[in-house]
Amino acid sequence: MHFLVTGGAGYIGSHLVRALLAREDEATIVDDFSTGHRWAIQGREVIEVDLRDLAGLRRTLAGRHFDGVFHFAAKSLVGESQAQPLLYWQNNVAGTANLLQVANDNGWGRVVFSSTAAVYGNPETPRITEAHPTQPINVYGETKLAVERLLRDVSGAGKVAACSLRYFNAAGAADDASLGEAHEPETHLIPNALRAASGNAPALTVFGDDYDTPDGTCLRDYIHVEDLADAHLLAMDHLAAGGGFAAYNLGSGAGYSVRQVLDVCEQVVGRPIPHSIGARRAGDPPVLVAATELAQDCLGWTPRRASLRAIVESAWAWEQKGRPAAGGLTRRA
Ligand SMILES: NC(=O)c1ccc[n+]([C@@H]2O[C@H](COP(=O)([O-])OP(=O)(O)OC[C@H]3O[C@@H](n4cnc5c(N)ncnc54)[C@H](O)[C@@H]3O)[C@@H](O)[C@H]2O)c1
Repeated sequence: MHFLVTGGAGYIGSHLVRALLAREDEATIVDDFSTGHRWAIQGREVIEVDLRDLAGLRRTLAGRHFDGVFHFAAKSLVGESQAQPLLYWQNNVAGTANLLQVANDNGWGRVVFSSTAAVYGNPETPRITEAHPTQPINVYGETKLAVERLLRDVSGAGKVAACSLRYFNAAGAADDASLGEAHEPETHLIPNALRAASGNAPALTVFGDDYDTPDGTCLRDYIHVEDLADAHLLAMDHLAAGGGFAAYNLGSGAGYSVRQVLDVCEQVVGRPIPHSIGARRAGDPPVLVAATELAQDCLGWTPRRASLRAIVESAWAWEQKGRPAAGGLTRRA
């Protein structure tokens, strides 16, 4: 099978490409390298085009056949989304509409979409099921929810089947440390803690230690990036078997506090993580943990690398190894 992977040069998309290759599927990547990396493309065909460029998409992709599309490409920084809402609506929503147009025109019948827990907004319950109200509190979450609705409507009209995967906090790296997380700027806790440990980033700031949680710091749900990749393969298989539109939470189902994460990072690294306690960040709920029964029941997905220690060990192996050399075949729009 041959799949199109938008955002395949990014963190999670590149791990999905690796998982496709491991099961001897073929992958073509669409990416504009706005946040992706040339070293992450693993020798696959890359079409360098911005999803906002409908004419460029048509020019580079018309007449191509794909068995489905994994759609990761998006802007995903909350602060940036508040400062530049138009960029987020154009990139995430209009870009997806363009992609769906080309998918529809060329008969690529299946789309698996990268959504986020940010669609829920402030949680009304600590453990979040898919039935929880969707009331995003930032532009990033709004655009992801808008895309979910777009996919639901397009799915309902018949030609393209789609589903949405709502990730909680993706973390970790490939088991051989050949790929891993490299966002710039990095906003995620585990890579920032490990970068601080290795001297590649300043001391970490813990945003508040006076929450109503056991140790006062926020609890979050971390899911290994390779478990996310597995879920995508299962979601695509589910669509191929006739599955209709639905949104599925992807998390480990366990909550770890920031302090617990730092403790595990210190155990894995073998030295203290330089850090200080700062003020709370606006919009940070105390607890955010996924209920994952729906993905388990409907997709047959179970996270296999759910322990926080396994996640941190893989991220630390990646952090120590450094970035690989660039490679791959690139065509431009
Ligand atoms: N990392 C997480 O914890 C997390 C959590 C929830 C949801 N998500 C979602 O998962 C997806 C992947 O996240 P990531 O962490 O791998 O991000 P990333 O920034 O590493 O990857 C995104 C990729 O998309 C590409 N891209 C962005 N806009 C594009 C456009 N207009 N045209 C073509 N390519 C474009 C970027 O160059 C990059 O390679 C995103 O949709 C994100 O919103 C991520």
